[in-house]
Amino acid sequence: MSNRLKVTPNDLSAFWMPFTANRHFKQAPRMLVSAKDMHYTASDGRKILDGTAGLWCVNAGHCRPKITEAIREQAGELDYAPAFQMGHPIVFELANRLVDVAPKGMDHVFFTNSGSESVETALKMAIAYHRAKGDGSRFRLIGRERGYHGVNFGGISVGGIVSNRKMFGTLLTGVDHMPHTHLPGKNAFSRGVPEHGAELADELERIVTLHDASTIAAVIVEPVAGSTGVILPPKGYLQKLRAICDKHGILLIFDEVITGFGRLGTPFAADYFGVTPDIMTTAKGVSNGVVPMGAVFVKKEIHDAFMNGPEHMIEFFHGYTYSGNPIACAAALGTLDTYKEEGLLTRGAELEDYWADALHSLKGEPHVIDIRNIGLIGAIELEPIAGAPTKRAFSAFIKAFERGLLIRTTGDIIALSPPLIITKGQIDELFDHIREVLRMID
Ligand SMILES: Cc1ncc(COP(=O)(O)O)c(C=O)c1O
Repeated sequence: MSNRLKVTPNDLSAFWMPFTANRHFKQAPRMLVSAKDMHYTASDGRKILDGTAGLWCVNAGHCRPKITEAIREQAGELDYAPAFQMGHPIVFELANRLVDVAPKGMDHVFFTNSGSESVETALKMAIAYHRAKGDGSRFRLIGRERGYHGVNFGGISVGGIVSNRKMFGTLLTGVDHMPHTHLPGKNAFSRGVPEHGAELADELERIVTLHDASTIAAVIVEPVAGSTGVILPPKGYLQKLRAICDKHGILLIFDEVITGFGRLGTPFAADYFGVTPDIMTTAKGVSNGVVPMGAVFVKKEIHDAFMNGPEHMIEFFHGYTYSGNPIACAAALGTLDTYKEEGLLTRGAELEDYWADALHSLKGEPHVIDIRNIGLIGAIELEPIAGAPTKRAFSAFIKAFERGLLIRTTGDIIALSPPLIITKGQIDELFDHIREVLRMID
């Protein structure tokens, strides 16, 4: 272990931690100091099995040699190049490589640095696309209750998580929301995609009738909602959304920040469901979470609608200083190489049944009121403690960490999304820990 890893900071106050119970954490910090493949090492030397691929991003596992080497090499060769009006070779190479694995028809890529930025980019693209076609009255954006699209103003406006919205004023105007698709009364303990609820897509027709299609630019949904507790699309639901959008000339945006890059056992959720959006937002798995990066995929006709006017003029007034940063591109190329060599973009399909069997074997354990699965995603919904929502799941998170397992909780839901390199033995280990934890907590 390097000396750096042994240092324990003695003052934790300066760092205001994101999406964290800061005061609770700083009383009993949970520090990770190194990682390899399926495991973290905690500051006390314990190995922690990663049940969450970091934050749904380390799909190829930790500290993979191809990625580490690519970053090291790039950092010594070209550290940074201006993203505007200049280029460097590997950003073009990466865009081509990404288009090769993307659903057919998603021919162009715009780079960002995070999922939140990918979402903002997609929303702006959608509105600007209609305007570029002379259809400037299409400015409305339709999201969904319980949707998570990052934390920037556009994302929280179309998103539907009340705690992420209520502190931040009036948000974007011209936004409406479809209902979420979580129907525990009808779908509890479904294996895979649930049977009931496709008719919820018809709510989009109601919204179109209310506002008129001529005012609506785009609908944005997560094909599988992850951060909000793993909510699956009912059978036929996404197909219906696609048909309604087509009928009314509305763009369909899939937010694949979590589902992209193999999480469902297909390269993208669009492949899993056989529904191709017009714009697809990604981040996380694009660079294995190692260097921040996001990528927005668009269909040719959307890209081409911008490519008019004088050739010396900028076509889309949007972009980030670090769009296509060379080191992020190197990380992403190393990631794509690793995915390809190890078949990781489809490995989830081979493990899906084993994963689902192990997960659903927790039915009947204390506090469990629903279990959901798809690809290498699992959710265990716990009955909340009366008057203390989220407390039970948070205790499960702490107990799991003490036992050597990293899980993620949101509300009273345990969400699982391990690196795609997980073995069957490690799946057994993961669920043995969770079974024990459920039996331990109040
Ligand atoms: C569907 C979805 N969109 C957007 C984001 C935001 O990504 P980031 O945290 O990289 O901004 C997330 C993050 O979990 C996500 O799950």
